[in-house]
Amino acid sequence: MAIKSVNPDTIAEAAELLRTGALVAFATETVYGLGANARNPDAVARIFSAKARPQFNPLIVHVPDLAAAQQYGVFSSTAQKLAHAFWPGAVTLVVPIKPDADIADLVTAGLNTIAIRVPNHPFAQRLLRAAACPLAAPSANRSGAVSPTCPEHVATDLGDRVAMILDGGSTALGLESTVLQIDDDRVALLRPGAVTRQAVETLLGHDVLTVEPVTTAPTAPGQLASHYAPHARVRLNVNSVNAGEALLAFGPRPPRTDGPTINLSPAADVNEAAVHLFAALRTLDASGVSSIAVMPIPDTGLGEAINDRLRRAAAPRD
Ligand code: TXA
Ligand code: MG
Repeated sequence: MAIKSVNPDTIAEAAELLRTGALVAFATETVYGLGANARNPDAVARIFSAKARPQFNPLIVHVPDLAAAQQYGVFSSTAQKLAHAFWPGAVTLVVPIKPDADIADLVTAGLNTIAIRVPNHPFAQRLLRAAACPLAAPSANRSGAVSPTCPEHVATDLGDRVAMILDGGSTALGLESTVLQIDDDRVALLRPGAVTRQAVETLLGHDVLTVEPVTTAPTAPGQLASHYAPHARVRLNVNSVNAGEALLAFGPRPPRTDGPTINLSPAADVNEAAVHLFAALRTLDASGVSSIAVMPIPDTGLGEAINDRLRRAAAPRD
């Protein structure tokens, strides 16, 4: 599938494809999304088959602004406060779904809540406004694999399964959105992401609840233990590298190794590390090693989301 550069013609073409039920991959500020019209059950079903995604795992609905979001979800005053502070941006809000939302059941996996996000990317905004429909969009990778941060990653994973890939370059943040569930005035962190827990807690003036990952479906559908995984085994908190292993390094003093090495941030900056994490995992994986050794990364700031992804990449697989 050709990667198309963004201009008025390709945006119009992509919007038309979406309206007719096809899949279009597009850039957001976090990772690339695999978009479909969230009102069209056949289109949404195509997302699940393209990704080979378990159907109990619900999707995020992307809209251009809070007013559009309020057509689909019920926003408590706390939810509105979060939306005003973080939208457009890398926070997804899980709120009660409106009875008249008219969103395909597959999007919410039959839950009585809906996950909504307003992306902060000019091309995503243009596409949403041109398509004039809510877009269900998971990360544009095969289910369980590493999320895509550039159009080439999407082409590698799903090239034969999407109608169009819109080129938005490399994504600015490199990690998925932070998923927050809002139940009236209570806020739970379902998935750490590109907006830190601290930023959310500072806004709210109190701690948020944390929902631990589970290995099977029920309460927190997105919390699958094994996810974001390369083909190679992943070994965490490593300070010495085995023969034949690749090294994902962090900080100024990586251990000596002859194997393939990528340093996420020689300056030990977790923000820089977040931007490069997924591309680095893909590159080391492509070198053909059977194991990737990962140095310890501090859990502060974006380190929480980085370590969440790395733990899932390292988790036992089926
Ligand atoms: O940054 C992002 O969020 C990217 C870009 C493309 O926007 N999208 C993304 O989507 O990461 P996906 O499908 O890979 O992750 C969606 C997350 C999952 O953890 C899912 O379980 C959770 O959101 N989710 C969706 N609807 C939910 C709901 N009603 N209740 C609880 N969790 C929900
Ligand atoms: Mg994903």
